[in-house]
Amino acid sequence: MRNFITIEGCEGVGKTYQTRLLKQYCLDKGLDVVFTREPGGSDIAEQIRRIILDADNSDMDDLCEAFLYAASRIQHLKDIVKPALSQGKTVICDRYVDSSYVYQGIGRGLGLDKIVRLNEIAVGEYMPEFTVFLDLSPDNAFRRKGGADQNDRMEAVGYAFHRKVYEGYKLLIQQEPSRFEVIDASGTKEQTQAKLREALIRRGVLK
Ligand code: TYD
Repeated sequence: MRNFITIEGCEGVGKTYQTRLLKQYCLDKGLDVVFTREPGGSDIAEQIRRIILDADNSDMDDLCEAFLYAASRIQHLKDIVKPALSQGKTVICDRYVDSSYVYQGIGRGLGLDKIVRLNEIAVGEYMPEFTVFLDLSPDNAFRRKGGADQNDRMEAVGYAFHRKVYEGYKLLIQQEPSRFEVIDASGTKEQTQAKLREALIRRGVLK
């Protein structure tokens, strides 16, 4: 879908920070870009987000979680994305279907095919024009965080999951290279921001 851009990346890549800088840049330039995020992004979708991310719901079934992400997505599309696109605005969304593909499909092991099918029902033709992937391996992200203790059992589980998620993104990029803008996020915050803006200018989203 033209003018619909998504941003993806693993935990610890600095996605939130980079998106905030980008939003400020657009404000300063007077560009009419709608910034939003998933899960959540609108009233009902935020209510679904709270259920998904509530630590008390650790017993949630993986497939139930996948459906809730898809449900939140449907509502967010209706409330935010579709109205903005139909008014000719550009929408930049922090996480979208690719997060479900890799976190639920690959990380949780539900299977990529199943999660792709589920999301086809949820989003229909509303696939992003292109997707920015902020590329930082979990090894680098953990190191940047100040060095997680690899011997800690919980950190080790976390690490294995994030490794799968990262490999999942790499697989998607391999399958659909033209949809992805891969941005090396291993440098300084300023370097990453510069690369991000350059990619968006080259794609005609920013001036
Ligand atoms: P959030 O606090 O927004 O984290 P981040 O800054 O990393 O985006 O939490 C979102 C979490 O939800 C994040 O761990 C990724 C996960 N997620 C999925 O597992 N599937 C999805 O479809 C989406 C949109 C997010």
